[in-house]
Amino acid sequence: MVRNLSAITIIGLLFFQAVNAQQDDVSALMQRNACTGCHQPTVRTVGPSWQEVAERYRDGSKTAAQLGERIRKGGSGAWGAVPMPPQAQLSQADLENIAAWILANH
Ligand code: HEC
Repeated sequence: MVRNLSAITIIGLLFFQAVNAQQDDVSALMQRNACTGCHQPTVRTVGPSWQEVAERYRDGSKTAAQLGERIRKGGSGAWGAVPMPPQAQLSQADLENIAAWILANH
């Protein structure tokens, strides 16, 4: 009985974590991946502000898929000489969600 109860508790916890992960919004993702250490909403710091990025690609010259790929690879030259480290730890879905969020208005 005790063993069954703990199994149920563990399954419950796993389920709770899965639901929690799905509810993670983009800003939490960006904090967890240290994007916010180099990027601010409206002020250029180490990297361009989200607002500058959105303004540059407002004409549709980069899609969310293209920008997501750029985030994954990192690199330099689009905004200056300082390189952005690659972000290979992010899933395709997370990359595109983040990119779409940036392009949307920030
Ligand atoms: C160590 C600092 C640093 C971190 C951490 C960092 N970036 Fe950057 N990011 C930069 C720099 C510097 C540039 C400008 C690169 C260039 O000039 O091409 C940049 C550029 C960008 C661009 C514009 C790319 C383009 O093609 O115009 C986006 C979007 C971006 N970063 C998103 C992110 C996201 C999302 C994360 C977190 C997953 C992140 N960055 C983490 C420094 C960083």
